[in-house]
Amino acid sequence: LGDHALYRIVYLSRATRTFDDAELNALAAWSAERNAVASVTGLLLYDGSRFLQAIEGPEAQVTGTMDRIARDKRHDSLTYIQDDPVRDRQFGHWAMQLKLAPAGCCSTDFLERVKEDVTLVDDLNLQAAFIGFAVLSSQRPRGYTCANR
Ligand SMILES: Cc1cc2nc3c(=O)[nH]c(=O)nc-3n(C[C@H](O)[C@H](O)[C@H](O)COP(=O)(O)O)c2cc1C
Repeated sequence: LGDHALYRIVYLSRATRTFDDAELNALAAWSAERNAVASVTGLLLYDGSRFLQAIEGPEAQVTGTMDRIARDKRHDSLTYIQDDPVRDRQFGHWAMQLKLAPAGCCSTDFLERVKEDVTLVDDLNLQAAFIGFAVLSSQRPRGYTCANR
C-alpha cells in the first residue's frame, strides 16, 4: 500500500553541452542508486542535445528529486509534459533506465529500442512523447548532419 499516492513528472530539457556515453552512463547509474533508495523509477532518453525523462514514485520523493534535477546546470530550458498524481507506475522495473541515441547517420536502432521500452506503457500520451522524441532523433542524430538523406 506504500505506493497508493503515486506521482509522475515528465519533462524535456536541453543539454548545456555535449555528453559522451560514459558520462551519461555514470549519471544514470548514480541516479538509479539514489532513486532506488527513494522508490523512484523512470526512463531517461538522450538524443545528443536534448533529454526526455520520466520520474515516478511517492509524491514527495518525485518532487524532491525533480527539484534537484531542475537546478542541475547540465541542462536548461525545461518543459514539463506531465506533472500529476497517477494511478500506476509505467516504468516500475527501472530505477532509472537510460537510452542513448547512437552517434552515426540516420540510425533507426534508437527508435526500435525506445519502442521496446514503452510497449508496456499503457498511458498513450507517454508513449507518444517517448516515441516522438525517438523518431525525431533518428532523423537528426547525435550532432551529425546526415549527408545520405
Ligand atoms: C538529465 C538529468 C537527469 C537526472 N536524473 C536524476 C534522477 O533520476 N535521480 C537523481 O537523484 N538525480 C538525477 N540527476 C542528478 C541531479 O540533477 C543532481 O545532480 C543530483 O541529484 C545531486 O544533487 P545534489 O547535488 O543537490 O545532491 C539528473 C541530472 C540530469 C542532468
